[in-house]
Amino acid sequence: MRALFVYCLGLSASVWAQSSTVDAYVASESPIAKAGVLANIGPSGSKSSGAKAGVVIASPSSTNPDYLYTWTRDSSLVFKALIDQYTQGLDTTLRTEIDNFLSAEATVQQVSNPSGTVSTGGLGEPKFNIDLSAFTGAWGRPQRDGPALRATALITYANWLIADGNTSYVSSTVWPVIELDLGYIVTYWNQTGFDLWEEVDSSSFFTTAVQHRSLREGATLATALGDTTLATQYTTQADNILCFLQSYWNPTSLFMTANTGGGRSGKDANTALASIHTFDAAAGCDAVTFQPCSDKALSSLKVYVDAFRTIYTINSGIASNAAVATGRYPEDSYMGGNPWYLTTAAVAEQLYDAIIVWNQTGSIEVTSTSLAFFTQFSSSVAIGVYDSSTTTYSDLLSAVKTFADGFLAIIAEYTPSDGGLSEQYSKSDGSPLSAADLTWSYAATLTAFGARAGVNPASWGASGLTVPSSCSTSGSTVSITFNEYAITVWGENIYLTGSIDALQDWSTSTALLLNTDNYPTWSITLNLPASTTFQYKFIRIYNGVVTWESDPNREYTTPASGSDTINDSWR
Ligand SMILES: *[C@@H]1O[C@H](CO)[C@@H](O)[C@H](O)[C@H]1NC(C)=O
Ligand SMILES: *[C@@H]1O[C@H](CO)[C@@H](O)[C@H](O)[C@H]1NC(C)=O
Ligand SMILES: *[C@@H]1O[C@H](CO)[C@@H](O)[C@H](O)[C@H]1NC(C)=O
Ligand SMILES: *[C@@H]1O[C@H](CO)[C@@H](O)[C@H](O)[C@H]1NC(C)=O
Repeated sequence: MRALFVYCLGLSASVWAQSSTVDAYVASESPIAKAGVLANIGPSGSKSSGAKAGVVIASPSSTNPDYLYTWTRDSSLVFKALIDQYTQGLDTTLRTEIDNFLSAEATVQQVSNPSGTVSTGGLGEPKFNIDLSAFTGAWGRPQRDGPALRATALITYANWLIADGNTSYVSSTVWPVIELDLGYIVTYWNQTGFDLWEEVDSSSFFTTAVQHRSLREGATLATALGDTTLATQYTTQADNILCFLQSYWNPTSLFMTANTGGGRSGKDANTALASIHTFDAAAGCDAVTFQPCSDKALSSLKVYVDAFRTIYTINSGIASNAAVATGRYPEDSYMGGNPWYLTTAAVAEQLYDAIIVWNQTGSIEVTSTSLAFFTQFSSSVAIGVYDSSTTTYSDLLSAVKTFADGFLAIIAEYTPSDGGLSEQYSKSDGSPLSAADLTWSYAATLTAFGARAGVNPASWGASGLTVPSSCSTSGSTVSITFNEYAITVWGENIYLTGSIDALQDWSTSTALLLNTDNYPTWSITLNLPASTTFQYKFIRIYNGVVTWESDPNREYTTPASGSDTINDSWR
């Protein structure tokens, strides 16, 4: 403890100065950030002209980059923050905005788009035009976190409405929207999609974590509304997802790998964002659900933060245990690869959330997994549980508070004098970059400020969950028989390949061999995900030479249940 004691004494004056700087920033920036959020919501937001009622624009920026669209992820995270403020009585003026959001989302769910219709995968479409028509350009689609985040925002509202005696409105108007989103997750959670940065097509920790959360709280809500069949279905898949969630852990380097694909280090703000958006103080420091103060989440956070210490000029000269500017992931090259306000705020928020729980439970546990996180602040700290009566507890708590404030102090330093928050700030000199007035930047500072003040969102039922002993995949598959009429020569075979994992993602080397039981009809029967649209083609392989069927790709949508047969003929 000696080292920490000296550290605290030596830095106490600057720590005090930092804390009052952050106090001042929170006081001045809070109303600006709140106004910044509301300005970007239609129909009357001052910077969102043309947006339908309840539509959140990502940013008013319409060129370089053009963010004048509405993303399901951003909108839902923004409205979760507003719904929390409303339901916790912190801002009673937001009811109309929230009801507008609900009706905008109910509308957009029904809009056919390049990901499909409402019943064939369209809910995974990431973004829409601000008049709620489909965006039909090329994009990284689908993105499977949107329905989960929307469900979570609306479940929070629904729970409040029920407590307020308005169950009939929940049943008639809110639940149908939530039910579609949860049904989407039940069907699709075990398929890949694009990550929250819209770049990597694989499984993604953030997506899996928020899907898990939404099904848990969805099961509780379904039970409250009397639908135990759906509640059981949600719980079954939530158990499967929780099992899968554990597989992202890297036991050697002690962090959650953000994506299963993409060929990067896997160190990514994805995981800090997952932790804060699935925070449930009632679950304590549970590592299974990656709670902010869990050993796995703290270790991940350190690995993530440290990945930015040497790559940004503005971080040079900062002590190796002090806050730095952080971005999405160290390999980022978008707009030159810079820190983002919302990712730096997420680090602060995770730490404040941890402090809320330590403060509530009156102890801090240091495990072999979180040891490196804590020894940043005290080289002599040992594995153990430190009760609030010990100096180790109070020293660690204040060191983490100082560390957390450090991230907000960085945001404060690089916020321009008008308080406007863009998407990024320059790694070279901290000046604002990319889209101006990013709604998510404002929402992210507001939730971090709230956590600093000890505000914690309502529980979603993360407490006491256990991981099934073996992982099952989604139960929603259907049996599809592909018949292909094709005359072949001896030694030549017919294979199937297509656009989904189960069809080998267009690989020719791992394409699926059809059988000749009914030659000249070649056949294969596969279990494929239900309600899924995909493209496919048959190929001939003879002496290693691949011949494709002629264009266009064949397309098919699997039924919601049961089986089907497709009869094709070589072309
Ligand atoms: C229930 O909530 C809706 C949506 O805000 C509102 O229009 C309605 O008046 C409420 N009903 C009651 C009985 O509070
Ligand atoms: C589907 O679930 C299984 C079992 O947890 C897991 O091994 C597999 O990676 C998952 N695939 C996707 C794409 O989620
Ligand atoms: C810590 O707990 C006390 C008493 O329970 C409470 O007043 C205070 O706001 C809490 N602080 C934080 C940061 O959660
Ligand atoms: C496909 O062919 C099989 C066998 O020839 C036949 O029984 C079935 O009705 C056909 N299905 C369709 C959808 O054409």
